[in-house]
Amino acid sequence: MAKVQDYREFLKKVLITEEELQARIAELGEEISRDYEGQDLLLICILRGGVVFMTDLMKHITVPHAIDFMAISSYGAGARQSTGRVRLTMDLQTSITGKNVLLVEDIIDSGYTISEVLKLLEMRRPKSLKVCTLLDKAGRREVEVPIHYRGFVIPNEFVFGYGLDMDEYYRNLQFIAVPDLEKYRPPEEDESPEEPLSPPTEAE
Ligand code: IMP
Ligand code: MG
Repeated sequence: MAKVQDYREFLKKVLITEEELQARIAELGEEISRDYEGQDLLLICILRGGVVFMTDLMKHITVPHAIDFMAISSYGAGARQSTGRVRLTMDLQTSITGKNVLLVEDIIDSGYTISEVLKLLEMRRPKSLKVCTLLDKAGRREVEVPIHYRGFVIPNEFVFGYGLDMDEYYRNLQFIAVPDLEKYRPPEEDESPEEPLSPPTEAE
């Protein structure tokens, strides 16, 4: 087990509280429900950051909808920067051809990731394709992307919590926070030997 720092040791500030998140997500759900009234809908979540948002959002969507997941990785990305080129590492299980698709994202920063994903999905000829993002770091945009539903516009600061990770941890936090990177230590792998694949047989 990796040793993981308690987030309170490096928390600089809570940017968006649980109450603010939940209230806004309920509004987004109502808006989406109105817009897709009488139509079928497929929500697509890009793993892993968007998963917490999508599961809360769908509870507020009252029109019938299916969900699916895809995973991508950025080529040669520095830990907290997007490079613009993405590779599909896990594809959807469903065909999107002729369907109303809503892409659900945690955060749009430079815009490169979402614009590449949109190109890829467009090729499959959905009936419609829209974007819903919880967070929009609008000041960092390098490529223009259409955003149809937006939770919050946030400043150009690195954030974590509510799906967004720091070295894969802290996605479970109920709020969006800004870290003090001077106080943050990445998780340490401990020195103990690898766990055996099967439990040791009990001594007679
Ligand atoms: P973009 O391609 O620059 O728009 O970056 C989008 C992706 O970068 C998001 O889906 C996140 O995975 C990641 N990202 C961007 N900003 C942050 C942040 O502040 N915290 C955590 N992840 C981020
Ligand atoms: Mg993401």
